[in-house]
Amino acid sequence: MSRIRKILGTLLFFSCLSGTLLLGVQATTGNGAEKSPAGAKTTLKGVIVTEEDLLYEKECGSCHFPYQPWWLPERSWEKLMSGLQNHFGESAELTPATQQQLTGWLRNHAAEHSTIGRARGMLRSIKADATPLRITESGYFRRKHHELPRQVWQENPAVRSLARCDACHPRAELGSFNEHEVKIPGVGRWDD
Ligand code: HEC
Ligand code: HEC
Repeated sequence: MSRIRKILGTLLFFSCLSGTLLLGVQATTGNGAEKSPAGAKTTLKGVIVTEEDLLYEKECGSCHFPYQPWWLPERSWEKLMSGLQNHFGESAELTPATQQQLTGWLRNHAAEHSTIGRARGMLRSIKADATPLRITESGYFRRKHHELPRQVWQENPAVRSLARCDACHPRAELGSFNEHEVKIPGVGRWDD
């Protein structure tokens, strides 16, 4: 993917995070970057991307796709962010300041604060006393993927894990998971 497509994709992805442009969202750190009146950076096409958006992609999008915060409730993000030293068997530790900043950002954009239909569906599928750390273990996710035989993901060297949303959903970074866009590596389009 060309650099510019990647940047545009990132912008679009983050503009889709909350279903609206992130206009007016406050960026709270100051590292000398250009500031718009809202305190956020104005970038290509006037889409505003906050410093936290970029920080999240950098810190939480290096090992895997940066999952949109609206996939999990606040309590899940809080628990996940307090256990980064053992994050699914790896260390994803951050400095205390960055951890605190990203935890706040994730909570602010969590499922409870989203108007996106999928976020509502996700919330409905999670029991009130449960605090899942995985999107892929939710009832909502399972319902959407139960028809997928293991051969096409677990035994597929180009996929291996259902947590790799972007392996099969080409526009996952834009927040788009439409079933008609699905293309499984080595398998092709998915028509059920
Ligand atoms: C050092 C690599 C690494 C970094 C950095 C990292 N992760 Fe992960 N993360 C993993 C691994 C490995 C898994 C398990 C993937 C799998 O099961 O296929 C995972 C899984 C997850 C899952 C669960 C996916 C599912 O199954 O639904 C979430 C949510 C998650 N990470 C969020 C984050 C957040 C938020 C950050 C930033 C604070 C982060 N990750 C940074 C390695 C990393
Ligand atoms: C192995 C490929 C694969 C991976 C990896 C994968 N999906 Fe999917 N996903 C599919 C397929 C195929 C469908 C359509 C299933 C059907 O129609 O029965 C689907 C459907 C969906 C749907 C419903 C789409 C609709 O139009 O209603 C959502 C939402 C979704 N996936 C989200 C995710 C998320 C989030 C992740 C990562 C945490 C993920 N998927 C990982 C293959 C995948």
